[in-house]
Amino acid sequence: MSPKENKIARDTPVIEVKDLCKTYFMPGGMSQNVLKNVSFVIHRGEFVAIMGHSGSGKSTLMNILGCLDRPTSGLYMISGKRVSDKSDEELAHIRGREIGFVFQNFNLLMKRSIADNVSLPLIYQNVSEKERYRRAVDMLEKVGLKGYADRLPTQISGGMQQRVAIARALINHPALIFADEPTGNLDTKTSDEIMTLFTDLNKQGITIVLVTHEDDVADYAHRMIKIMDGRVEFDGLRCRYGKEA
Ligand SMILES: Nc1ncnc2c1ncn2[C@@H]1O[C@H](COP(=O)(O)OP(=O)(O)OP(=O)(O)O)[C@@H](O)[C@H]1O
Ligand SMILES: [Mg+2]
Repeated sequence: MSPKENKIARDTPVIEVKDLCKTYFMPGGMSQNVLKNVSFVIHRGEFVAIMGHSGSGKSTLMNILGCLDRPTSGLYMISGKRVSDKSDEELAHIRGREIGFVFQNFNLLMKRSIADNVSLPLIYQNVSEKERYRRAVDMLEKVGLKGYADRLPTQISGGMQQRVAIARALINHPALIFADEPTGNLDTKTSDEIMTLFTDLNKQGITIVLVTHEDDVADYAHRMIKIMDGRVEFDGLRCRYGKEA
């Protein structure tokens, strides 16, 4: 890539939302406006914490950003491309190749081995079983779980299960990770370990957008977007309270 192309790639927002609105329509004609004209831009390499009270619309926003749901109106661009122009098939492709997801409840298949869980996204790409196992073992090592490939998720701790989920999110080498309350079910020490792992991934250039209720967790991010009643109430630098930069 030429220096000019490289600069363009760096300066292209990974995410751009403008006047994003989401209304849920319920049976019986009831509706609820959950997101109201949400606008922001996230650049490559950022580490953003999305905060806000329960019910403020954080998960709704994350589902739209992660292409799991569509907005009612407004613009959503991912890597400079309009998401609204894409078919469900194209969205599935973006989800599979460009985005990694981490959830509060880990979302692991409890009866499948840890290696199977990590390599699950590769099944849809026709990667051979042997190669899937090899890549899973490799990724598990990167998240500090060397030697755990053949165990079941029920045989490891909650923090380890979340590492498995992170390894699964990383298996396709996404440029972007969305995490919705990834430490919500973990104790403080384990939560700090998971956040240190996210920090390392961010230092490697992965853009991270994370929802949290907890100030201590948000302190790992560089920027905070606070949602209040479906609107952006604050968008700016996050004070790190002396945590290592
Ligand atoms: N599929 C849905 N259909 C109808 N209403 C929904 C749906 N999903 C969410 N809502 C409503 O939208 C509002 C925002 O929900 P959302 O899950 O985005 O909040 P949140 O900020 O993630 O909350 P929490 O911190 O508790 O996870 C809530 O009032 C919720 O009841
Ligand atoms: Mg939520």
